[in-house]
Amino acid sequence: MGKKDKRWVLQRKKDTYYKLAKKNKYRSRAVYKLFQLNERFNIIKEGNVVVDLGCAPGGWLQATRSIVGEEGFVVGVDLQSVKPLNYENIVVIKGDMTKKEILDRIIKEMPSKANAVICDASPNISGVWDVDHTRSIELCTMALISSTKLLKKDGNFVVKVFQGYLFDNYISLLKNYFRRVYTTKPKASRNSSAEAYVIGKGFFGHSFNRNIKSPILRLIENNVKNLTNLDDEEYKCLDHTNENKKEDTLLIKRIKSLRKKKE
Ligand SMILES: C[S@@+](CC[C@H](N)C(=O)[O-])C[C@H]1O[C@@H](n2cnc3c(N)ncnc32)[C@H](O)[C@@H]1O
Repeated sequence: MGKKDKRWVLQRKKDTYYKLAKKNKYRSRAVYKLFQLNERFNIIKEGNVVVDLGCAPGGWLQATRSIVGEEGFVVGVDLQSVKPLNYENIVVIKGDMTKKEILDRIIKEMPSKANAVICDASPNISGVWDVDHTRSIELCTMALISSTKLLKKDGNFVVKVFQGYLFDNYISLLKNYFRRVYTTKPKASRNSSAEAYVIGKGFFGHSFNRNIKSPILRLIENNVKNLTNLDDEEYKCLDHTNENKKEDTLLIKRIKSLRKKKE
């Protein structure tokens, strides 16, 4: 173990929430972020159906199960395996939350549409701020698109976002789908971390609109195509006007060149 790693392990051992999570047999210190978010914004209630996107190792699944109780239902998804939690009303799917087949499997598992979709997913960290921020925004936007298919009308959404230049665009996008949108950083989130949590309350209930003008949608065009299974005719109907293209070209060029440098 290098010096830096040793320092990180020591720091972690001193961390209050890490100690609390260990003591209470939670799988991650992140459970306290969800408890704090829920206390303030009332996102999940007893008896609710909840989808947890990016759920490994399972801390938020444990926290959610303790809120929804026996009458609720939780479906988690992650690229990684999750050790079984031994509750009949928690189902975990191993897979990529941005893929349509995984979305279909989630829907199959749910007893009804969800009261809440929660997403603590993190992209692979490259260490280049703009790249990590962009990947996070892509993931969060895919989570938003999935939510429009998973949520009941008036349902709630919470998502972790790495802050950066597209943050305000993401908030604007969210306002098309939720009555109220809040940004916060719970106490359990480290000050040194670039993460913030965005909460959408009161889902309007309408499906995802691919014609909204947003540089973010341009950015994830291929993913949106995957997830929504648009056929070519529908795809041609999207708003690919020159004006919008020009607006986003610089941004996308910049992101692509940053990615190339790192990959
Ligand atoms: C910070 S962890 C989540 C911690 C969790 N909330 C807990 O309390 O245990 C982020 C997770 O997002 C997952 N993730 C990232 N991209 C994903 C994707 N495309 N599909 C599914 N899971 C993904 C990662 O595998 C990782 O396990």
